Amino acid sequence: MSAPANPGGAAREPLRPVLYDVREDAVRLLDQRALPGAERWLALRSSAEVADAIRALAVRGAPAIGVAAAFGLAADARRGAGAAELSRRAELLARARPTAVNLAWAVRRVSRRFGEGGDAVLAEAQAIRDEDEAACRRMGALGAPLLPRGARVLTHCNAGALATAGYGTALGVIRAAVEAGNPVTVLADETRPFFQGARLTAWELQRDGIPVTVLTDGMAGWLMARGEIDAVVVGADRIARNGDVANKIGTYALAVLAAHHRLPFLVAAPWSTVDRETPDGGAIPIEERSGDEVTVIGGQRVAPPGVPARYPAFDVTPAALVTAIVTERGLARAPFGAALAAMAERGPA
Ligand code: MRU
Repeated sequence: MSAPANPGGAAREPLRPVLYDVREDAVRLLDQRALPGAERWLALRSSAEVADAIRALAVRGAPAIGVAAAFGLAADARRGAGAAELSRRAELLARARPTAVNLAWAVRRVSRRFGEGGDAVLAEAQAIRDEDEAACRRMGALGAPLLPRGARVLTHCNAGALATAGYGTALGVIRAAVEAGNPVTVLADETRPFFQGARLTAWELQRDGIPVTVLTDGMAGWLMARGEIDAVVVGADRIARNGDVANKIGTYALAVLAAHHRLPFLVAAPWSTVDRETPDGGAIPIEERSGDEVTVIGGQRVAPPGVPARYPAFDVTPAALVTAIVTERGLARAPFGAALAAMAERGPA
């Protein structure tokens, strides 16, 4: 399943972790389980293989799993699956991870093309990929001015190029600030238990030459109290109609800390993460993963055998704790319900 080449480009070229190989009819994924130790690319030939990769976190991050799913269905369609069979597979794929709404959104979007044949499904999937990267760059341009000069910015999980089609949401805002000449530095929560911060955020920022320091998840409060953090920027897996934000477990605690210390708490997410069907955070399904992922790290058990562990993979930050939501359609501020409704009304730029 692994392939040696790096189809996303050589080091320093923009990182694009989800691509489609038309010659092989394969979805190419940079395997995020192997980073930072190895840059291993997977070649997946069906939506079932993509669903397995999504569940196993070989590809993760809300926009990235949407793009991967769309390409997986394109691979099925180009291998001759008919519309009825594609619809069945689409339903399975959309359920692979429940919190990130971009997955169901992308599956729904390509599903509308099932009757038109494989090339049409692939064209739609490719459009989703291209639009996501463009949205990230636009969010960067809109969000970068919110960061004070030389800000020390805390981020959680990985909301970077690896979590999107490219460039990133929260890390896109940071990248754009750096590109505009603002010498920001980054503090990355390690983000237990999958270590998206320590492994992925640190890897992709180091690759781009952006200064990054890793923290364990419990350190942020103390550093805020000491005046060593100027702003918090995170991504999102789903934003409800009222502006409540689901993101990686631990985000809510950071928002409470940021409010206590009067620091800006910024959320960057493409419009595809805004779920107009979900009224508030209470209605967002929160993925529960196996406690074994908490107690066994890198094959090593870190808790006594027989002791159970909880793993809600996401939490919900109430809109009241959010300073601004950055989307490619613009900046939303409180009252978020009205701001998001106006953006929905306005449509894409
Ligand atoms: O479990 P993960 O790694 O898929 O969780 C990802 C996050 O929580 C990200 O912050 C979110 O998807 C935003 S990605 C631009």
